[in-house]
Amino acid sequence: MERTLIIIKPDAFEKGATGKIIDRFISEGFKIRAMKLFKFTKEQAERFYIVHKDRPFYGELVEFMTSGPVVACLLEGENAIRKVRDIIGPTDSEEARKVAPTSVRALFGTNKGKNAIHASDSRESADYEIPFVFSQLEIF
Ligand code: RTP
Ligand code: MG
Repeated sequence: MERTLIIIKPDAFEKGATGKIIDRFISEGFKIRAMKLFKFTKEQAERFYIVHKDRPFYGELVEFMTSGPVVACLLEGENAIRKVRDIIGPTDSEEARKVAPTSVRALFGTNKGKNAIHASDSRESADYEIPFVFSQLEIF
């Protein structure tokens, strides 16, 4: 069993897609081990996405991720990291609608920046992101 973090981003939360997205992962067989509604501060979003600090989109990404509430879930399942990445689809929601029309980003995202959902992309990122969002006592 493997654990991974998803974050329903401010665009998807704002359009009321949270329930549908969580239901998708439950339907795909994942167990929810922790869940939280919160809003990132600028400093927290900068640290969460620190791997992207030198990318041209870093400022825009931090601004977007702090623009409204998000919902984070800790999901557990077999090969959860890779499977969840497959279910969310490519980074760019417009591309996702062409190549993965049933993916979460195809269904609920807008474009490359506003793409509805985050998911850990490796064991290393999951190991950084899960304790960033959840304390030990919040994980079931
Ligand atoms: P995430 O980390 O949020 O799960 O997304 P990802 O792995 O598919 O994509 P990544 O390369 O890690 O980029 C992180 C987030 O930055 C925004 N982005 N904007 N305007 C752009 O060119 C651009 N590129 C990336 C997206 O919100 C992306 O999910
Ligand atoms: Mg990423």
